[in-house]
Amino acid sequence: MDSNELLHMAREAKAQAYAPYSGFPVGAALYCEDGSVFFGANVENASYSLGVCAERVAILKAVSAGRIRFQELAINSDSEQLTFPCGACLQVMAEFSPDMSLSVTVSNRDLDYMTFTLRDLLPFAFQLNQGNSK
Ligand code: THU
Repeated sequence: MDSNELLHMAREAKAQAYAPYSGFPVGAALYCEDGSVFFGANVENASYSLGVCAERVAILKAVSAGRIRFQELAINSDSEQLTFPCGACLQVMAEFSPDMSLSVTVSNRDLDYMTFTLRDLLPFAFQLNQGNSK
């Protein structure tokens, strides 16, 4: 699976976004180590803070289907600019990529893209058992 192919899937997933409040649909496609792919789209709510990002939808679908090892997560929106995951989504990615090696491919509406590692995007993730215990 190359990044471009995964991005096209993220763009398809974006069509299922439920984003009536922001008007900012986002799609995500998550490539798992076993070769399966899970899709996500953002799902908003009238109680705004309950909205869930496309990335977390894809990850939670995968985990709840028994996949916890991932190679790449691709993200697409209609923006002219590259759409990067929010901090909350990065933290959820870190949960399932303890070595922070997950590839994260961000794109714009034209499918121009860049790929980063999770470590690039979240260099100081919160992880347990690193002196954080109290
Ligand atoms: N959103 C995502 O789904 N993923 C991102 O990477 C950025 C933001 C959603 C959250 C909200 O539904 C809308 O985009 C506007 O912030």
